[in-house]
Amino acid sequence: MTVEWSTSPPPLVLRVDRDAPDLLRDQLQDALRDAIRDGRLVRGERLPSSRALAGELGVARGVVTECYAQLQAEGYLRSQRGSATWVGDAGLPTAEAALPSVEVPPLRVDLRPGLPDLSSFPRADWARCLRDAVRDAPDAVLGYPDGAGVPELREVLAGYLRRVRNAHARASEVVVCAGFAQGLHLVLQALVARGLTTLAVEDPGDRDSHAVAAGLGIRVVPVPVDADGIVVEALGEAGAVLVTPAHQSPTGVLLSARRRQELVAWARERDAAILEDDYDAEFRYGDEPVGALQGLAPDRVVLLGSVSKSLAPGLRLGWVVCPPELVRSVADGKALADRGSPVLDQLALAWMVRSGRYDRHLRRMRVRYAQRRAVLVGALREHAPGVRVGGLAAGFHVVATLPPGVSEEEVIAAARERSVGLYPMSGYRTSSVAAGPQLVLGYGNVRTPAVADAILRVADLLG
Ligand SMILES: Cc1ncc(COP(=O)(O)O)c(C=O)c1O
Repeated sequence: MTVEWSTSPPPLVLRVDRDAPDLLRDQLQDALRDAIRDGRLVRGERLPSSRALAGELGVARGVVTECYAQLQAEGYLRSQRGSATWVGDAGLPTAEAALPSVEVPPLRVDLRPGLPDLSSFPRADWARCLRDAVRDAPDAVLGYPDGAGVPELREVLAGYLRRVRNAHARASEVVVCAGFAQGLHLVLQALVARGLTTLAVEDPGDRDSHAVAAGLGIRVVPVPVDADGIVVEALGEAGAVLVTPAHQSPTGVLLSARRRQELVAWARERDAAILEDDYDAEFRYGDEPVGALQGLAPDRVVLLGSVSKSLAPGLRLGWVVCPPELVRSVADGKALADRGSPVLDQLALAWMVRSGRYDRHLRRMRVRYAQRRAVLVGALREHAPGVRVGGLAAGFHVVATLPPGVSEEEVIAAARERSVGLYPMSGYRTSSVAAGPQLVLGYGNVRTPAVADAILRVADLLG
């Protein structure tokens, strides 16, 4: 039995076969799922009523209603009581998935920002600390943990953040969480419960963080960033602001001393909160250490960090240092979300920091990233002299400003043809303010010789 369905050209052909071994309901489900996945049925498109489709296919109406119900549960279809059924969001190809098609060769070098060197993860150290944790943790620790985290790790993190980030941190104010992303979610949730409605964010900035806030119903207000960091006078009426003071993500600028003072003054005046994303502060290449903003105003600033850049994002371990009045609601939120982060991993991290292995790993990686950065900058200077490189002071990405008139999109598409992954600044911009063409080039997870190779392959495209 075949139905030709012509709400959108070309008509969709659905077939079910009574003689096939699969149930009619399963055949119909597979056919619809495939049509949605490969784009023959697009989001929002209306489906025939179950009665009409059953009539056309010559099957019982229950076959169609059961099929629709299952696809609704999976998110492929949506419907409202008493009204039509239409195609939902699930299974639609994402922009990223759509990029590499069959004609595009696999990437030889991927300069995707955000990843540390995964091949340098200190496996032996981690294995040893985890083994020690498994062997020595008292039985009681294996019960449900405190939502705020195991005391050893909270103590160790507070000490580490005081020593290395000049933060004002006490163990009682630290909440351990599943990376920055969860920390941000928990803090925003706690602030929403206290009346937060508007969050100012950096533009350009990390769009995932903006989505976390928007998902909680918070209005997200983009605020421009200049050579001194976020423009404080443009903050306006927001109840909180999310910033990356040590190494603005992605421009790489450092929030200047004056702006730090202005930002804290703004927050005090408005009774607003500052959320400090300290995402790659471990890797600074200049002589002068830059402390966390939180050290200046621990009553106003929530400090968020994680091991995603220092060790590996897959560990999903991070922390929040809260002003005292927020700690309990953030810890309670964490306990409700997942009953606390895995205790053995928390202990392993505590022992890694306490034993000095964490610092040793960071020292080693700082040297490695500095070498890669030098190779990247040298290769750009030599082979693409029209490119201006910025955001170099920390982390493991740089911003390449291309000559005016060069198209980010065209460069990226042409580089893909040459098996090099490049990423546009436009992916970080929220506003439609016209800005020159820029690329954000990550070198953390690319071996040093491959960094030079990548630039050689694409230099003529960059202008
Ligand atoms: C701006 C920024 N902050 C924080 C993080 C780390 O997030 P998480 O700790 O959830 O892995 C990232 C990861 O790429 C990031 O780009």
